[in-house]
Amino acid sequence: MLFIRQAERGDIENIAELEKECFPIPWSEDSIRNDVLYSSIAYVVVAEFDDAFAGYADVWFVAGEGQINNVAVVPHYRRKGVGTALLEALIDYVRDLGGTEMSLEVRPSNIAAMRLYRRLGFEEVGERGGYYLDDGEAAAIMKLFFEENQDDADEYEADESSNY
Ligand SMILES: CC(C)(COP(=O)(O)OP(=O)(O)OC[C@H]1O[C@@H](n2cnc3c(N)ncnc32)[C@H](O)[C@@H]1OP(=O)(O)O)[C@@H](O)C(=O)NCCC(=O)NCCS
Repeated sequence: MLFIRQAERGDIENIAELEKECFPIPWSEDSIRNDVLYSSIAYVVVAEFDDAFAGYADVWFVAGEGQINNVAVVPHYRRKGVGTALLEALIDYVRDLGGTEMSLEVRPSNIAAMRLYRRLGFEEVGERGGYYLDDGEAAAIMKLFFEENQDDADEYEADESSNY
């Protein structure tokens, strides 16, 4: 059975191992520890599949927007909906905080990730040249917009500007 929960101290090692397995330039254990334990802007979730660590995802919530930093699923548990469930947890989190949009960078050659994001409603809005330091590949920038929170944000901005 699949279960998504917020990451804890005991997950840091598993996340670091998975980072090394998945990415040419993995996040360091220190960066992961900071996001899991100390950061006021980070929200990190892990997936357990039949009680085993199956993946993780990390988002930063800054200035009313969610920036997805990473999502990774242990190879054995892929194509079982784990990546979808992890991202849905991040999307719910940012939407519930009143966020207006979420964004992420992805390699256009990463077909699995591109399809996963598109299925969840992310749209390609541009690219960032030479983004990946290992091979210089450009990143596709993808965004998901929360129309339902847009009006609240506009009202907030109007209130703020009326103070001046
Ligand atoms: C990308 C990744 C997170 C997907 O995780 P996952 O748990 O396998 O994803 P899901 O099972 O929720 O798949 C959802 C949909 O994404 C697409 N998808 C996922 N893996 C795919 C693959 N290998 N090939 C093509 N489409 C794929 C499919 O549309 C899939 O739906 P379907 O299984 O009904 O066809 C996983 O492959 C991974 O960890 N990759 C390495 C790390 C990585 O690249 N992270 C993204 C960095 S931007």
